[in-house]
Amino acid sequence: MRLLVTGGAGFIGSNFIRYWLTTHPDDQVINFDALTYAGNLENLRDIEDNPNYEFVKGNICDRDAVDAVMSRVDTVVHFAAESHVDRSISDPMPFIKTNVEGTFVLLESALKHSISRFHHISTDEVFGALPLDSKRKFTDDTKYDPHSPYSASKAASDHLVRAYHDTYGLPVTISNCSNNFGPYHFPEKLIPLAITNILEGKKVPVYGDGLYVRDWLYVKDHCTAIDAILTNGKIGRTYLVGGLTEDIPNIEVIRRILRIMGKGEEMIEYVKDRPGHDRRYAIDWTTIKRELNWKPAYSFDQALQETIHWFESNRQWWERIKSGAYREYYQNQYSVTE
Ligand SMILES: NC(=O)c1ccc[n+]([C@@H]2O[C@H](COP(=O)([O-])OP(=O)(O)OC[C@H]3O[C@@H](n4cnc5c(N)ncnc54)[C@H](O)[C@@H]3O)[C@@H](O)[C@H]2O)c1
Repeated sequence: MRLLVTGGAGFIGSNFIRYWLTTHPDDQVINFDALTYAGNLENLRDIEDNPNYEFVKGNICDRDAVDAVMSRVDTVVHFAAESHVDRSISDPMPFIKTNVEGTFVLLESALKHSISRFHHISTDEVFGALPLDSKRKFTDDTKYDPHSPYSASKAASDHLVRAYHDTYGLPVTISNCSNNFGPYHFPEKLIPLAITNILEGKKVPVYGDGLYVRDWLYVKDHCTAIDAILTNGKIGRTYLVGGLTEDIPNIEVIRRILRIMGKGEEMIEYVKDRPGHDRRYAIDWTTIKRELNWKPAYSFDQALQETIHWFESNRQWWERIKSGAYREYYQNQYSVTE
């Protein structure tokens, strides 16, 4: 296969490229990425000399640049997105541009170049939130109900991808996955922020009461799920990909991290909640398990341990990120409650 991976310098995309080149060593991968604040070529240092890997800097909204790379591949795995909910609340425009217009440009180009598979990576946030006290999960039949500019823009992109299949016959698949975590996770997100703050001797900010529930997916398990979909997934289908079978509130995630790292609860600092914060997400991933024989290979605690170990061993990687422009963003975002 010749793969075009958009957004391959980001968190999940870089893990996916590493996974793909390791497990499919004869395939070729072009990583097409605009290198926004979230794109970091240091995520791919260990594979940049691989002869089957090429990096092309470009924006998915740029038709000519997209056409140039699209003409050289047969498969697209589309990760590129503005992906941080909090940023979408303070400045939604880049989310509409990249997530909606950029996806549209890619779809047009994929059609023009008769791409044999267009796989679109989406999020469970398109389904909105579930009440904290319910046992319900997002299923294949759950209606879209996005709440933030981020999830609304991802929902729009999902609809466009489906429309290109239904209207023009583009061979697409979609996956809606839950919150990923693992190596190379940008340290503004909950788990890496907690781990790196603890490693720096700082407190861990937790929004509101900390009772928000997310479904956590280890990024390495996500990569095997995408592989299963690319290899055996049905054209036109959407697969829900999650990692957990039980609810684990954010505060419990932090407590487990503190326990593994040998620290106590005094490291927790409650901060002001953000607007439109969804209460609970939970994914029913029985369809991908049943149809494609996929399930997570790691338990949540195993994956947390591996992740903590990775951040302990790769201090230079995250210290550089945390010392930059991100510091200013962090100060604005996490205002401590009185
Ligand atoms: N991280 C999660 O937990 C999660 C959960 C569900 C779905 N997703 C989806 O997975 C995908 C990847 O997420 P991530 O966490 O790796 O994101 P990320 O923010 O770490 O990486 C996004 C990458 O896209 C690139 N990019 C942004 N705008 C671009 C543009 N206009 N043109 C080309 N490249 C551009 C960035 O430079 C960056 O390398 C996204 O589509 C996101 O919506 C992520």
